[in-house]
Amino acid sequence: MENKKYIIKTYGCQMNEHDSERMSYMLHNLNYIETDKYDDADLIIYNTCIIRENAELKVYGHVGAMKALKEKNPNLIIAVCGCMMQIDEAREVIRDKFKHVDIVFGTKNLSSLPYLLNQYLTYNERVIDVEDVDDIDELQKAIRKDKHSAYINIIYGCDNFCSYCIVPYTRGRESSRSESSILKEITQLGEEGYKEITLLGQNVNSYGKDLHPCTNFSSLLTNISKIDSIERIRFMTSHPKDLSDELIEIMKKTDKICKHIHLPLQSGSTRILKEMNRKYTAEQYLEKIVKLREAIPDIAITTDLIIGFPGETEEDFNATMDMIEKVRFDQAFMFKYSRRIGTTAAKMKNQVDKDITSERFQKLLDRVNDICYEKNSEYLNTVQKVLVEGTSKNDTSTLTGRTDTNRIVHFKGQESYIGEIVNVKITDYNSFALEGELIE
Ligand code: SAH
Ligand code: SF4
Ligand code: F3S
Repeated sequence: MENKKYIIKTYGCQMNEHDSERMSYMLHNLNYIETDKYDDADLIIYNTCIIRENAELKVYGHVGAMKALKEKNPNLIIAVCGCMMQIDEAREVIRDKFKHVDIVFGTKNLSSLPYLLNQYLTYNERVIDVEDVDDIDELQKAIRKDKHSAYINIIYGCDNFCSYCIVPYTRGRESSRSESSILKEITQLGEEGYKEITLLGQNVNSYGKDLHPCTNFSSLLTNISKIDSIERIRFMTSHPKDLSDELIEIMKKTDKICKHIHLPLQSGSTRILKEMNRKYTAEQYLEKIVKLREAIPDIAITTDLIIGFPGETEEDFNATMDMIEKVRFDQAFMFKYSRRIGTTAAKMKNQVDKDITSERFQKLLDRVNDICYEKNSEYLNTVQKVLVEGTSKNDTSTLTGRTDTNRIVHFKGQESYIGEIVNVKITDYNSFALEGELIE
């Protein structure tokens, strides 16, 4: 039987990327193979994100454009899944205005994909199903895009309800995967040759609280570090309010845990942090940074920042600029506030003018990039251990990889180094990456 061909287009965060890897596994078992040609595809799945308005608009644009292809090829199956489909309003738009979409499912019934596909093929009728059915303890099979570094889910959902954020509505309540199934998956990945793993969760620091007997993230990390074949452990994201001294201690004494933490600050103004329901003050955040740097002097600290949250004054914004100077982040992801339906902040009256937000955003961006440049200059002439991830997009004689501290490094070398951890002497840099020479 000839293979059918699929495309999965993924939007959003690492969780969605990993969900797509899990769907790939299911489709391969149904005799589908991946293609990158839309004209060739029998099935196109859009795994969507709704974190900000621009993510949502992109999906409508791309899915809308498929109407013509579907008219040309009526056998083509178009499916839409992911976070957007958990939100009633967005799902209704797809249902009512995108009639060429055949299958709709959500984040909590991902493993129903084979069943939903079969249902559509059997009855040739639209299938819309976002029932919560997934048992999270299943052994999570996936066909991973990267063969050396793997994503692993450890905790689903979020209980924090930051006032701007839609994730608690798209991913549901916090629920930890059992430690035994996590360890089993990682052991197996090690046997397959994976060197690096990234543990995923909206708030990994909450891991284990809901398990019986209850456990915690530090203990999970300790047990993972005992798996010999795994050389590097990463995790994201950590919520500052739950970053414990115990975790800092484990990071300090466990070489395999990468010297990098992504610790979203969101705003430098304590008043805004309160409105955001983040449950820490700017001072408390700084205290955590001091502790981290005392324990692990060369740790890289990266962050997320939101500009133009409702009610943000010039003074609040200056407090954020001030924090940038105090912390000197190694990298920061900056976002203009986006009003998300159903969240508390969406109902706040004092939404900030778009032009003011843009102006502040640019000012912050310029300063953050300057600091990143200065921080990267500290790598000049040092020798870094780099896990080689692949070749550069435009030039196959250039390899790219990452340092322990999550810096991207480009250097000349043969493809046979892919998957190895090599020594690279840093010879140049910009705000976003380092350049170097391989030391054999
Ligand atoms: N769980 C993670 C973040 C998930 S969303 C955490 O708590 O840190 C990734 C980032 O998107 C957030 O850190 C935040 O900076 C940004 N974000 C979330 N909702 C947003 C909104 N409505 N507008 C702009 N940025 C938003
Ligand atoms: Fe969103 Fe806050 Fe949960 Fe992160 S912790 S996913 S920002 S609600
Ligand atoms: Fe987007 Fe869902 Fe991730 S809303 S950022 S894909 S959890």
